[in-house]
Amino acid sequence: MSAAVTRRIHVIGIGAGSPEHVTAEAATALAEVDVFLVADKGGATDELVAVRRAICDRFIPAGHAYEFVTVPDPTRGPDAERDPQTYAQGVRDWHAARTDAYVRIIEGLPADAVVGFLVWGDPAFYDSTIRVVDAIGRQIEAAVRVIPGISAFQTLAAAHGVVLHRVGEPVHITTGRRLVEEWTRAETAGLALGSVVVMLDGHLHCRELTTTHPDTLIHWGAYVGMPQQELRSGRLADVIDEIIDLRARLRREHGWVMDVYALTPS
Ligand SMILES: C[S@@+](CC[C@H](N)C(=O)[O-])C[C@H]1O[C@@H](n2cnc3c(N)ncnc32)[C@H](O)[C@@H]1O
Repeated sequence: MSAAVTRRIHVIGIGAGSPEHVTAEAATALAEVDVFLVADKGGATDELVAVRRAICDRFIPAGHAYEFVTVPDPTRGPDAERDPQTYAQGVRDWHAARTDAYVRIIEGLPADAVVGFLVWGDPAFYDSTIRVVDAIGRQIEAAVRVIPGISAFQTLAAAHGVVLHRVGEPVHITTGRRLVEEWTRAETAGLALGSVVVMLDGHLHCRELTTTHPDTLIHWGAYVGMPQQELRSGRLADVIDEIIDLRARLRREHGWVMDVYALTPS
């Protein structure tokens, strides 16, 4: 550990795709950053990079010079073919490789440079930046600030004009990969998950609940908060086929798709 300098690192939630999501706190933090470290995921779309650039252009005063430093992301391997243990180990190895790459770059910057990480949505949901920055802080002295952002599921709820849960009931947030197992396990144990928000579901796993739970209500959205936003809602059994077709078509048309949905049990 190099004890001499304390590096300032801002982890900034930028919202789910619209510059309008950037909070006043995030705008202030953006204007303090000298170097944004950006993971180069290879497949990242120009549009997603353009959103980040547009946010910086809009909120960072013209007189403040800043740069983007792209850091090649280590390869992660085929998640889908791994069991949960191998998957978890693979993610840990990947975080470690990412951390080392960032530390090398930060150590090469001027000591007073403020480093920024732009995080899509809110850094607290399905994003590894805080964990990576914690790990960076174990290698170099760092003063870290996390600025919250508007998450995709908050944008989804607002776009549909709904409260995600019934009065006083819980909301369970999970991934497509875990949805059916968690739903089934809770039901078998006689527990109520409440409403379920599902992120990271490229396969729309909710389709597997259609036969057993056809009356479940779904609120679905793709590119929420962005100009190409698409929303659908209704009884799962009635709308799932349309959502599956629409998702596939959007992916073809735009070359990428990000969607999120909420399920409310009948
Ligand atoms: C890696 S997670 C990041 C979540 C992010 N930290 C947040 O708070 O929204 C990516 C997932 O978030 C959801 N997502 C993010 N932005 C979205 C958007 N504009 N429209 C729909 N879903 C979005 C999708 O489920 C996507 O698979």
